[in-house]
Amino acid sequence: MKSFFVFMLAAASVAWTAYWMEDISRHGIAPFNPDKDYRIFRNVKQWGAKGDGVTDDTAAIHAAISHGNRCGGARCVGSTITPAIVYFPAGTYLITAPIVGFYYTQLVGDPTHMPVIKASPRFPTQAIALLDADPYMSNGKLNFQATNVFYRQVRNLVFDTRAVRGKATGIHWPSAQATLIQNCAFHLSSDPKDTHVGIFMEEGSGGMMVDLVFHGGKYGARFGNQQYTMRNLTFYGSDTAIDQIWNWGWTYKSLKVVGSRVGINMSSSDVGSVTLLDSSFVNVSTALVTGRTPGNKTGLGSLVIQNVLYTNVPTVLAGADGQPLLLGDPNGSVHDGGYARGNMYAPHGPSLLEGREFAFSQPATLKLGDRYYERSKPQYEQYPASDFMSARDHYAVGDGQTDDTSALNALFQAVAGSSYIAYLDAGYYKVTNTIFIPPNTRVVGEGLAAIIMGAGEKFFDPNNPRPVVQVGKQGDVGFLEMSDIIVSAQGATAGAVMIEYNLNTPAAENTCSPGNPPSGLWDVHVRVGGYKGSKLQVAQCPITPNQHNYVNSSCVAGYMGMHITPSARNLYMENNWIWVADHDIDDWNSTQISVFVARGLLVEGSRIWLVGSSVEHHTLYQYQLVNASDVWMGQIQTETPYYQPNPPAPYPFTLLNATIRDPDFTTDCQHYAAPSSLRPGTSAPCAMAWGLRILDSKDVVVFGAGLYSFFNNYDTSCSTAAAGEDCQARIFWVGDSSGKAADVLTVETYNLNTIGSVSMITQGKIDMATWDQNRATFASTLAVFRSEGAAREVGV
Ligand SMILES: *[C@@H]1O[C@H](CO)[C@@H](O)[C@H](O)[C@H]1NC(C)=O
Ligand SMILES: *[C@@H]1O[C@H](CO)[C@@H](O)[C@H](O)[C@H]1NC(C)=O
Ligand SMILES: *[C@@H]1O[C@H](CO)[C@@H](O)[C@H](O)[C@H]1NC(C)=O
Ligand SMILES: *[C@@H]1O[C@H](CO)[C@@H](O)[C@H](O)[C@H]1NC(C)=O
Ligand SMILES: *[C@@H]1O[C@H](CO)[C@@H](O)[C@H](O)[C@H]1NC(C)=O
Ligand SMILES: *[C@@H]1O[C@H](CO)[C@@H](O)[C@H](O)[C@H]1NC(C)=O
Ligand SMILES: *[C@@H]1O[C@H](CO)[C@@H](O)[C@H](O)[C@H]1NC(C)=O
Ligand SMILES: *[C@@H]1O[C@H](CO)[C@@H](O)[C@H](O)[C@H]1NC(C)=O
Ligand SMILES: *[C@@H]1O[C@H](CO)[C@@H](O)[C@H](O)[C@H]1NC(C)=O
Repeated sequence: MKSFFVFMLAAASVAWTAYWMEDISRHGIAPFNPDKDYRIFRNVKQWGAKGDGVTDDTAAIHAAISHGNRCGGARCVGSTITPAIVYFPAGTYLITAPIVGFYYTQLVGDPTHMPVIKASPRFPTQAIALLDADPYMSNGKLNFQATNVFYRQVRNLVFDTRAVRGKATGIHWPSAQATLIQNCAFHLSSDPKDTHVGIFMEEGSGGMMVDLVFHGGKYGARFGNQQYTMRNLTFYGSDTAIDQIWNWGWTYKSLKVVGSRVGINMSSSDVGSVTLLDSSFVNVSTALVTGRTPGNKTGLGSLVIQNVLYTNVPTVLAGADGQPLLLGDPNGSVHDGGYARGNMYAPHGPSLLEGREFAFSQPATLKLGDRYYERSKPQYEQYPASDFMSARDHYAVGDGQTDDTSALNALFQAVAGSSYIAYLDAGYYKVTNTIFIPPNTRVVGEGLAAIIMGAGEKFFDPNNPRPVVQVGKQGDVGFLEMSDIIVSAQGATAGAVMIEYNLNTPAAENTCSPGNPPSGLWDVHVRVGGYKGSKLQVAQCPITPNQHNYVNSSCVAGYMGMHITPSARNLYMENNWIWVADHDIDDWNSTQISVFVARGLLVEGSRIWLVGSSVEHHTLYQYQLVNASDVWMGQIQTETPYYQPNPPAPYPFTLLNATIRDPDFTTDCQHYAAPSSLRPGTSAPCAMAWGLRILDSKDVVVFGAGLYSFFNNYDTSCSTAAAGEDCQARIFWVGDSSGKAADVLTVETYNLNTIGSVSMITQGKIDMATWDQNRATFASTLAVFRSEGAAREVGV
């Protein structure tokens, strides 16, 4: 009845068609959920919400979110079997109590008529937020541990707190990897008697936020988390736009602050670093407040600024005591091409940077105009539901059992070069051979719950690696857009390369013109193990810290996370998480597991943007760049496998591949046997996974990196200052193929944060920076590293 009515309405009035998500036919499933009637998609109006701005919609929205025995409340800390999209059509939804978030939930509004979540005047001031994505429980702890909050998004919603007197907050958002807030607006009271905040985030290991607009408030946002990437956030008239509660590393790109007393207050002594680029401040009394005192040689409060314009800003940077450290112009504009405060290695150091006119390398080929290129996830607002070609309508089953290889391959062949968008309904598409995505294809998944899962003997042989998903063949030319998809494998798939990307996209060189953009992968993730259906859970792959160098071969599950091959060019990636599971999400206690995948993300292409990415727990390396050029990486994050050095790298992977320049730990660790500069007396193991290894590459810029090694054989006692941060000797290597000096390389890294590694940077055979020279928060932090070649190029 309902859909008939919508159809009639659409036919009668051509001007109004609902957003495709509203009326696309839904047949997504959660095959590993025992409830066969479990529903992914919930339109809040079908659950009784009125959206008329008058009716209290709290209960109806809660019903839409919680239906189906989902994961929320004290009895559940994580689940992959109860994903949901909670959809808000246009309207104003009045609420009198917080909307409480459940695990694996996408809250999505109609982007063509953005719905408003409006607090009633009766909304309790003691409530933490309008959307409480992770509530505090009676034991004082968050429902979901902040660093384990994965796979959730909030998109296209307006949060309006203005009717509330006193305290009010839009979103409470403890968050970790594979989370996103995109295209939301916040309307907050600016009455000095009120304390309104747009987003409050106190913990986690994130993450990405993009395209947000904040109006008013005492604080536009209060942010604390290990690391984050935030792009295109705009603040109008917030008293303090951003209160940086704490962090290790943070990247703000294309930030805009208008009419504030304070832009970013990073004066807390718990702030490690802030990287700010391509941004502007207009009519702001003090753009930035730092706690770092002049002459301070620690890593605390490291600040790197590139391409920022201040208009009518009297003070650009002030100390915590209010003392101006850097002046702007109260009646004009000042532009900072480059500014940094913190420790620099260029390549030798440390030396103290405290000033303007710093000449960053700034590869022009990565820019559009004067800014580094950026592009948000397409939401296809302008397309009707009839333009989407559903996998399940094309004979794919997605039940985790049926072999969907031919159905998916046929779908992508049908969509390639057409005006259609491939739509992967939620489900597990088990495939027994490579899924090929031809050039000129657009793909979108349903609710981050469409998983392509490689399985079977074709993926078993580590001597014969095979992609699960292959984008283009070597030399193929064309474009790709892909979003909200997870690629995985099942069981002992030691030969599986989860994603192989070969495409050369002919984007306009040097300009990336909007009509001819690079290809994009947004919220495309890799997940190996740790979920129902993976056959790599607690029961199969328990941790074995008490067994010497034991590896269960049934838990060797991959050759590589993702390979961007030499033929790949012009690829923009945003918010991607390549994860070998360290714990079982579907286990009630989030119990740790040992799953083995050899390599993380290998980049051999050119003009690649990695905006907000994370690669974790691979045995040889997390990120490796080989003969890559023009690479932008902004807030990258890694973790070394928790089991190492039991066994040490490269075990269990003894077949090293010289073609793709696998690290040779035996040779390397001999070279390093008598290191000239590593801390004497350290017992830190050498044969450990690299966080970031850059070989023979040029014009690489890293805008924020967090390379972490928390464990030795599942014990965290090595990752403390008292223990000498000696979980591993080295974590970040840059050099040329001879393994010697980094002669030809132009690599610049800003705000590098490491944990548990004695050396922070190794160039050729020399350890350039050690953790104790750059002590900061729980992490060590240095502001600028410029490789030998980069230093030469800019004449240092
Ligand atoms: C920034 O975000 C706003 C709000 O979503 C959007 O209107 C604008 O187009 C975005 N700008 C860019 C450059 O993407
Ligand atoms: C910056 O934040 C600190 C800590 O919250 C606060 O005490 C201080 O007043 C703030 N500074 C300004 C200029 O608002
Ligand atoms: C900045 O302030 C000036 C003077 O009050 C005003 O004319 C201008 O519109 C403001 N700019 C913005 C972007 O709000
Ligand atoms: C360096 O700055 C931090 C705050 O960013 C402060 O906590 C610390 O005491 C300072 N150290 C010295 C030696 O001035
Ligand atoms: C410059 O700005 C200051 C402070 O905003 C203001 O008081 C003053 O009148 C301005 N001067 C001119 C010449 O506009
Ligand atoms: C080595 O890597 C190349 C390039 O990716 C690949 O074609 C080859 O199959 C790999 N060989 C082995 C033994 O892993
Ligand atoms: C090794 O893994 C297999 C399959 O996952 C499992 O059946 C077996 O119990 C595991 N062996 C040990 C010793 O844990
Ligand atoms: C979780 O751990 C507790 C103790 O650590 C144990 O009593 C309980 O049985 C575990 N629950 C499950 C479902 O494994
Ligand atoms: C490195 O890449 C360049 C193109 O950027 C290519 O011409 C050259 O052959 C590559 N070198 C190797 C050793 O693959």
